[in-house]
Amino acid sequence: MSSYEAIRYAVTDHVATITLHRPDVHNAMNHVMRRELTGCFEGLLGDDDVKVVVVTGAGERAFSAGADIREFVEPLPAVRFREQRRRVEFRQVMDRCPQPIIAAINGFALGGGLELALACDIRIAEAGAALGLTEINLAIIPGGGGTQRLPRLVGRGKALEMILTGARVPADEALRIGLVERVVPAGEALKAATELARTIAGKAPVALRYAKEAVVKGLELPLADGLRLEGDLSTLLRTTEDRVEGARAFLEKRAPRWTGR
Ligand code: COA
Repeated sequence: MSSYEAIRYAVTDHVATITLHRPDVHNAMNHVMRRELTGCFEGLLGDDDVKVVVVTGAGERAFSAGADIREFVEPLPAVRFREQRRRVEFRQVMDRCPQPIIAAINGFALGGGLELALACDIRIAEAGAALGLTEINLAIIPGGGGTQRLPRLVGRGKALEMILTGARVPADEALRIGLVERVVPAGEALKAATELARTIAGKAPVALRYAKEAVVKGLELPLADGLRLEGDLSTLLRTTEDRVEGARAFLEKRAPRWTGR
């Protein structure tokens, strides 16, 4: 268990859990939280021990209410603007993470909070959660990838409807429009996400990474290039010891023992 100021980080059985931890302000994201998330995901880039990552919010009411609005009160001077442009966007580090990332959405996921969930690979929301890109209400637009990742999930019309109105979408509607993969009873998002993470973490390590790479990178490519990427990665997997182990275990009717080689 590592302790930061604005997040908590723990690893159990190859599953890392990152908890956004500012419950007094619905886990709103301040500079400290963004810096810590960047460091945390940068650490995960080279961490072979962690196979799956779960992200959730502390407390019972919020995943994250987005950017800390207290930091908005002063207009942004040009120097800070230039610094911000240089800043590493932690959600782009998430895009490079080889591990699957599951969002356990335990309440409000608004603004940058929803953008964090959008940068995850799989989203599980609990009943009672409300999701929205509410920036327009503050005279800004989503700046953490929301204008790009939301339409890729729910389509142009629904994304624009959400972004232009700042409306909060309840969990059942989020499921219907493909914004989340699953809705679970109130209080159970983290449990469901952890169970899913454990199931995934039990699969062969190199196959897991290549499966994510093929889907995530492939989505950005023309189909022919994506098929080529899939072909290359699946051919590479045929060279692994785990592939032989998988076949042997099946034939010998026993559980496989993966080595990650
Ligand atoms: N930034 C800073 N503080 C925030 C915050 C944010 N994004 N969201 C909530 N808080 C603070 C509130 O100011 C309040 O602090 P206080 O107790 O010192 O007054 C505390 O968190 C609890 O929030 P409150 O608004 O009283 O809770 P609620 O249950 O009535 O409403 C929300 C919850 C999430 C609907 C509401 O807080 C909200 O709309 N937050 C802003 C969301 C947003 O627009 N995010 C996008 C930013 S770009």
